[in-house]
Order: sequence, then C-alpha cells, then structure tokens
Amino acid sequence: MSKARLPKTKKPTGAKKRVSKAATAQSISIEPVGVEPPAKVLPYSDIDVNRWREYEDVETGSLWMINGRERQNGHQLDYHGNCVPQILTQLLTRYTKQDDVILDLFLGSGTSAIEAVNLGRKAIGVELKADMANYVRQKLEEQGKSEQVQIINGDSANQGWTGKAIQRSLKHFDREQAQFLFLHPPYADIIRFSDSEQDLSNADSTDAFLEMFEQVCQLGYDMLEPGRFAGLVIGDKYAGGELIPLGFLCMERMNRVGFKTKSIIVKNISGNEKAKGRMSNLWRYRALVGGFYIFKHEYVFLMQKPKQTSGRAKRS
Ligand SMILES: C[S@@+](CC[C@H](N)C(=O)[O-])C[C@H]1O[C@@H](n2cnc3c(N)ncnc32)[C@H](O)[C@@H]1O
Repeated sequence: MSKARLPKTKKPTGAKKRVSKAATAQSISIEPVGVEPPAKVLPYSDIDVNRWREYEDVETGSLWMINGRERQNGHQLDYHGNCVPQILTQLLTRYTKQDDVILDLFLGSGTSAIEAVNLGRKAIGVELKADMANYVRQKLEEQGKSEQVQIINGDSANQGWTGKAIQRSLKHFDREQAQFLFLHPPYADIIRFSDSEQDLSNADSTDAFLEMFEQVCQLGYDMLEPGRFAGLVIGDKYAGGELIPLGFLCMERMNRVGFKTKSIIVKNISGNEKAKGRMSNLWRYRALVGGFYIFKHEYVFLMQKPKQTSGRAKRS
C-alpha cells in the first residue's frame, strides 16, 4: 500500500466556460460545459467526499497489507516496537483536519507526532521513559517540527498529573480537547520497555495490564472532543500454551469507558517482523510442535467517542 496523501484541493468552481471558435472580438459566445459540485466534507475530515474517486490511496477496507515501512519524511526504524507510519497516514487522513491536535498516550519514538506534522496537524505525546521523551524532542527539533508538538514525560495512567499537563498543552494550541486519540500500548509483556512499575509492559498479569490500560483509556476519553475518533494498535499474545486475545480485551476496556467500536482492521506484520532465516525456521518448528499459528497480523481498532456523552459506562 503506498503512502496516502490528500489531493490538492481545487477551489470549488461554478460553470466551466468555453470560448466558441467562431467568437470574434465583437461577439463572444460562452457556453457552460459542466458544473463541478461544491466540496462536501465531513465534520472530522478534509476529504471531499464528492471527489471520492481521487482518494485512491485512502483505505476503506478492513484488511491492510502494508509491505515495508515508510522511512522518509522524518520516519526511521529507531525503536524496537515502533509502529509503521502508514497506519497514522491512513487514520489521520480520514479522521482529522488541518491543524487538528492528535493526542498519543504511548508516544515511544514519536511516529504519530512526526506524521501529524507531515500532514499539517499538531500533536501532544505522553511517554513514560524520560530518555525517549528527550530523544523525540531532539529529533523533532532537528526536523524543524518541534513547534507543532508538545511532549510530556509522564505516566498516562495518572489522570491527575498527566491530565493537567495535557490540558496545559491543549491550551498552548488554543484547544480544549484533542481531535484524535492514538493508542499503541505495549502488547502486555511481549517487549519490556523499562523497569518502571508504571510501565504497562511490567504489569504482572493480563488483568493488571488491562486495569492500567483502562486508566489510560479513561484519560484519553476525557481529553477527546465528543464525536471524534481514536485508533488503537495492538496484537495478541500466547502464554501458557494459550492465545490471549489482548486486542479484543483492550477494545472491551475502551468500550467500558464509553468508546463505540466503529471498525476492526486486520493489518499484516510481515513487513516489520524480526525473525529471519534460522529464527523463522525455529518458529515454524515450534508452531508445528506446539499446534499453533505464528502471528502474521495485528489490529487497528477504530473507536469513536459519542457526540452526546452520558458519562462513563458502568462497570459490571
Ligand atoms: C508500543 S510502544 C509505542 C511505540 C510508538 N507508537 C512508536 O511508533 O514509537 C509503547 C510505549 O509506551 C510506553 N509506556 C508504557 N507504559 C506507559 C505509561 N504508563 N505511560 C506512558 N507511556 C508508557 C513505553 O515506554 C513505550 O515507549
């Protein structure tokens, strides 16, 4: 799948004019040859749906085959566990407008922030690891993108301190809430990102991980404008000879805080898998012996905060 770009917006025009061949300086005959419909845009997107045929690169299907990661426009493979930038290109193109603010509560190496600025949006990112937050600040500075991004070094499950820091950053951009929420949490303990107790990858059980994740979702929900969208990128895991459906469990936690599920996208991971050669043969052997299949996909859950919010969904 190639990189999606919004086509340049033509100014809506009225009737096209054509000057007749027979026209002279005295008599000019002007015939209308067609009327272009006015632009029709949705409240959360710059896509002109009247020109839908022109958005060939914008995905509308639920299976995303992304072969190879974007390594240009400031993107690089500099963090184990970072996401493919094209996911952000797709989501931000369809669900945000120019100058909108994207909130990422697991910033990592800053993929969402870089892509937000590439597409003319702004970003606020929260990352627990101080060294990572500093690294991204420096990277954005070098790329001339730091003005459009606010980075907070903090715990996204801490609604008090981190909530206030996000509100200050929103104010900096003259906004009260964000227009898109991006969540790419650790896939439980698959990659340990730090030694911190607040790090979701250090939760000592799936339930503990989900509890922490739900706290983060609550903060994201509160900070998001009603009617706007959220994207959750996550994969499942195996433990104790059993598949743990982390994706669906996390989706359910987002539902609990009030998000509606709009779509579940399955995305291939063949472009960014690490196992090659002997390692991949070893996995094939283990899969055959263990009676399971090797993950070749992860999910992008597309969620929406309802326009009218009736408060937090009650936990059973
Ligand atoms: C899967 S990575 C995100 C990668 C990111 N999307 C990128 O492209 O670089 C998850 C990140 O969440 C961070 N993290 C874990 N627990 C956190 C918490 N409680 N608050 C904020 N960040 C956290 C980790 O340090 C890690 O950088």
